[in-house]
Amino acid sequence: MSYHNPYTPPRKSATFDDYTLAEIRRAAATGIYDIRGAGTKRKVPHFDDLLFLGASISRYPLEGYREKCDTSVVLGTRFAKKPIHLKTPITIAGMSFGALSGNAKEALGRGATIAGTSTTTGDGGMTDEERGHSQILVYQYLPSRYGMNPKDLRRADAIEVVVGQGAKPGGGGMLLGQKISDRVANMRNLPKGIDQRSACRHPAWTGPDDLEIKIMELREITDWEKPIYVKVGGARPYYDTALAVKAGADVVVLDGMQGGTAATQDVFIEHVGMPILACIRPAVQALQDLGMHRKVQLIVSGGIRSGADVAKALALGADAVAIGTAALVALGDNDPRWEDEYRKLGTTAGAYDDWHEGRDPAGITTQDRELAARLDPIAAGRRLANYLKVMTLEAQTIARACGKNHLHNLEPEDLCALTMEAAAMAQIPLAGTSWYPGKGGL
Ligand SMILES: Cc1cc2nc3c(=O)[nH]c(=O)nc-3n(C[C@H](O)[C@H](O)[C@H](O)COP(=O)(O)O)c2cc1C
Repeated sequence: MSYHNPYTPPRKSATFDDYTLAEIRRAAATGIYDIRGAGTKRKVPHFDDLLFLGASISRYPLEGYREKCDTSVVLGTRFAKKPIHLKTPITIAGMSFGALSGNAKEALGRGATIAGTSTTTGDGGMTDEERGHSQILVYQYLPSRYGMNPKDLRRADAIEVVVGQGAKPGGGGMLLGQKISDRVANMRNLPKGIDQRSACRHPAWTGPDDLEIKIMELREITDWEKPIYVKVGGARPYYDTALAVKAGADVVVLDGMQGGTAATQDVFIEHVGMPILACIRPAVQALQDLGMHRKVQLIVSGGIRSGADVAKALALGADAVAIGTAALVALGDNDPRWEDEYRKLGTTAGAYDDWHEGRDPAGITTQDRELAARLDPIAAGRRLANYLKVMTLEAQTIARACGKNHLHNLEPEDLCALTMEAAAMAQIPLAGTSWYPGKGGL
């Protein structure tokens, strides 16, 4: 006979929580794995787990209104004849036309240009909107080669060879048939309305030696003018950075597991790759071991939201950051003003991630003409520019408080860690100690 204890409420399993149960039932009912956009939704060690120490007696702060704190950065100083000069170290990450509407791409270009920074194409090629509105445009050279056009290599200001993405290291992207309009199909040379999977690796190489040859080809096509970036997902940051440098990269782009995606299997987003916090120090170590820190620039991304995140990434040794999801939110993605429509799609503002379906009420992750027309690229571009300005000012405020006259002078010494995990991953002493796991001392 079972005994029911009236004092204890029914207890749910932490292992089989509500989301897990719902996912098992969904899989059982449909036989299809879940695809979605955005980055990981689980909590992983992040920049929130680090704090700045600020100046006191042993450190001298700079005066906020009178003393200069430079925010500029130059990318591609190693080989390129025309390196990229940015006013802020916050760049816009590559997001494909196809995943995003033409208006969204235009808005990204407008916002980035006002802020004095760069934007990046994505899978599916370069659109006239974004080239026309982006003062500095990085052209992605991707495994899929969708929309790849040698003429566009020359129209770009830098080339980014994409080896992988943080949301799915080792995997390729997806673009479902709903979003393959005439224009997208035409640019990608593929049939309209049919699901497309992007390749997970470049067809032309099997290893780092081939990457070296590819980079050399790209340099020759662009007359050694344009910086060549290499983008990798956060998996083996020490070796990937070292190999990218060996292959001739001017800039390494490192994207952690929090990094957004337009559409990927949920199991990939949640279970493959490392948090960006764990990736930065090994990548910087690789650059230092090769004598290339600050000579080959490091751009990091994955869940960057505020000037504090930017300052922490730079203090850990990055030269710049890239933002994807946060830029879309600044444009108007997941805005509560569309709440009624999010509800009709079975979700809510802040949780909407079915970007692959192309029914985005905010008109950003869609190719539907009516929905896309909801986004005013001028107003959205202005919002993005405001947001970039605020983030830059926030990072500058922190740098001044740490006594730095340039954001790049921020250093690991300016930080402490709140948790053991963050201390170990970022190699930053636990608050109140001079110790982190893996390092001897107090
Ligand atoms: C809608 C969307 C589309 C994306 N498309 C691409 C792409 O075409 N190529 C690529 O390398 N990365 C792509 N990404 C990943 C971003 O370049 C970047 O690595 C990531 O968004 C950074 O993390 P964050 O979103 O947390 O800022 C995409 C991301 C989003 C959100």
